[in-house]
Amino acid sequence: MSKFWSPVVSRLTPYTPGEQPKLSKLVKLNTNENPYGPSPLALAAMSAELGDNLRLYPNPDAEPLKLALAEQNAAHGITPAHVFVGNGSDEVLAHAFQALMQHEQAILFPDISYSFYPTYCGLYQIAHRMVPLAEDFTLRVDDYLNTPAGGIIFPNPNAPTGCLLLLDEVERLVAGQPDCVVIVDEAYVDFGGDSAIPLVARYPNLLVVQTLSKSRSLAGLRVGFAIGHPDLITALERVKNSFNSYPLDRMAIVGATAAIKDQAHFDKTRQAVIASREHLVGGLAALGFDVLPSAANFVFARHPRHDGAKLAARLRADGIIVRHFGSARIAQFLRITVGTDEACQALLDALQAHLEDMPVDF
Ligand SMILES: Cc1ncc(COP(=O)(O)O)c(C=O)c1O
Repeated sequence: MSKFWSPVVSRLTPYTPGEQPKLSKLVKLNTNENPYGPSPLALAAMSAELGDNLRLYPNPDAEPLKLALAEQNAAHGITPAHVFVGNGSDEVLAHAFQALMQHEQAILFPDISYSFYPTYCGLYQIAHRMVPLAEDFTLRVDDYLNTPAGGIIFPNPNAPTGCLLLLDEVERLVAGQPDCVVIVDEAYVDFGGDSAIPLVARYPNLLVVQTLSKSRSLAGLRVGFAIGHPDLITALERVKNSFNSYPLDRMAIVGATAAIKDQAHFDKTRQAVIASREHLVGGLAALGFDVLPSAANFVFARHPRHDGAKLAARLRADGIIVRHFGSARIAQFLRITVGTDEACQALLDALQAHLEDMPVDF
């Protein structure tokens, strides 16, 4: 705290990102990165871009990328005017909070969801109300209807639970709140859900946000995008052009464009992650864990007899990092990223050993 800080900064509770450890020998299952590499075509495109060109500013609108995303979704009526791109979906979400959620009424999001949402509310001074998920951690659409809202946002599949809201339920929510923007944060949708992008043409209040960090394995490149009615996109562009005209650098534009076009690599790696997830879920269940149904590249699991924080600490001592959240409702859970089959097996072996020699907590 300093007298030079603005009141907003003094009051902020910044988001705490998952740990990015320096040690290389760790089994890193804590930040939902993809265990497989990015598209070789994306790597080649970035290598080709590396040179004298970097002297020049990039295309401020990242047009090749918007075009590639529009082409991919052309069957749903998506054009480049429906597409916004940013420096990771975190930046896209931040702009969306500022551009579309700052109204008189409080915005709504689930009590268990992406912990960056309350941070954006603090940064932009947006009132919010957290709506409790059901006992089984599913989202009840009715809880979001017939109630005034300045906006609604939820991840689908949800994070950190991995639970999916089916598309007809997403549509019921978007249709039932036509006077506020509904943002569906689809960071993990490629691992088991149906995207709401096909609904965009029918609902001018729907904004779908996705990232290349997970299913495209480009977390290090920082590229995310939103698809919505051109009026919503214009609002995002207005914020972006009042903040940073060049959020995507030259490498990011060519790399992300090539990655979006490489359907074969996308399909192969996505299927591999889904297969490993099913194996991991089976292994955890065999060890007695309750595992929430996951449509994401991570699983959320608790052991009925062992404390979540203690299990996470034991794993850490073995060099295996998973994510543990302290908040009361989910304090017994571990969020485990789906790694390679070898990484998942290392986790299962370590858990088995600990469960055999740890005293039970409950
Ligand atoms: C639900 C959700 N939304 C958005 C993001 C941000 O992703 P990125 O900024 O890497 O695109 C994450 C990252 O973990 C996430 O879990």
